[in-house]
Amino acid sequence: MKTLETLFSRSAKMMKASEIRELLKLTRQPEIISFAGGLPNPDAFPVGNIKKMVDHVMERHARDALQYGTTEGHNKLRAAIVHGMKQIDDVTTDIHNIIITTGSQEALYLLSKVLLDPGDTVLTAAPTYIGATSTFLAHQANIECIPIDENGIRVDLLEGELERMSRRKKLPKFLYLVPSFQNPTGVTIPPDHRSKIYDLVCQYDLLLVEDNPYGLLCYDGDRVLPIKAQDTEDRVLFLGTFSKILAPGFRVAWSCGPAELVNKMSLAKQAVDLCSNTFGQYVVYEAIHHNLLFPHVDVIKRLYKEKRDAMLDAMERYFPKEAKWNIPQGGLFIWVRLPYSINTKDMFPRAVANNVAYVVGQAFYPDGSGSNTMRLNFSHSTNEQIEEGIKRLGMVINDQLHKEGLEPEFITSV
Ligand SMILES: Cc1ncc(COP(=O)(O)O)c(C=O)c1O
Repeated sequence: MKTLETLFSRSAKMMKASEIRELLKLTRQPEIISFAGGLPNPDAFPVGNIKKMVDHVMERHARDALQYGTTEGHNKLRAAIVHGMKQIDDVTTDIHNIIITTGSQEALYLLSKVLLDPGDTVLTAAPTYIGATSTFLAHQANIECIPIDENGIRVDLLEGELERMSRRKKLPKFLYLVPSFQNPTGVTIPPDHRSKIYDLVCQYDLLLVEDNPYGLLCYDGDRVLPIKAQDTEDRVLFLGTFSKILAPGFRVAWSCGPAELVNKMSLAKQAVDLCSNTFGQYVVYEAIHHNLLFPHVDVIKRLYKEKRDAMLDAMERYFPKEAKWNIPQGGLFIWVRLPYSINTKDMFPRAVANNVAYVVGQAFYPDGSGSNTMRLNFSHSTNEQIEEGIKRLGMVINDQLHKEGLEPEFITSV
């Protein structure tokens, strides 16, 4: 038999485990305090209420809930999402504009499948969510990036880039953004910038993919409405998920967008998994119907706000003055910038040797920049782990600074 290597497709041959993901495997040892994952805290899972909903589904709906479902998803759940998007996000939509997916990650795959030919361009922010860019790359897209600052994607640079791309007749297939409490930086695009972005999307006749897993996890100030709320031209594909507000184990998420696009995604989904987890969709629907979900979001917000504050407080005490970070108003992450001459990938073994881990920021830059940055997750660790882990990380950064004999120096804006 030929070696398997010769049998792999061209796209499979291009799939490589990233060096940074390999590094993260080192962090699975129990003695390591890891701020690397993006996991919800298991204490935030409403175990008792989910059990009640599971029992309810088994008693009342077992014959349907254990069966294959339609590819678009459980209709009652789709209708509840239509209702919820109006109530919560001021988005007017219809059941035909909603498809349930196996996590938003599948939605990213499906939209890539139906929109991207090899060599097509996707425009996004740098840094951005690595799960999205890996999917775009797996579809052989060319990724162009606009830097971000404390207000998210630099709208002035976006405008200039679109103008240049339009002149060269090389506009992107779509713009991909995580406007609220972005993964990895925690940064949120303010309302006036959202309007400007939407105007640009209309002006250049683009599709916008608005990925919004963290929008409801707002700890300070007023929550900003999604860009989808102003989508009068039906050109925003909004991705929502129950992963961070209920439990990721259900793998239940939704996309809300132009019916034609949603229909194509549904055709593509038939070849991927036929339908999303029917049982999970029933349980999620019953949690909404019994009004258990939204009160629970308040519980999660209280828990994560406390953890964010504990991490920020520990960083103030233990990190050297050369380290800079933002105060995210929501989400799961704090973004740290160190002097340019510190490479967080080179520093990583030192962190692991001191039993603490982070994600190397470079992973989130499609162009490989950001070598002086790191992402810290605050949702998953206990408060004691946060205190101890930040203390260790502060020592590691200090050691690295002194080892290199670095002078304090200019630091990037976000
Ligand atoms: C920005 C972003 N999009 C999508 C996802 C995927 O979420 P899920 O597939 O669990 O819905 C994540 C997960 O962390 C994320 O951070």
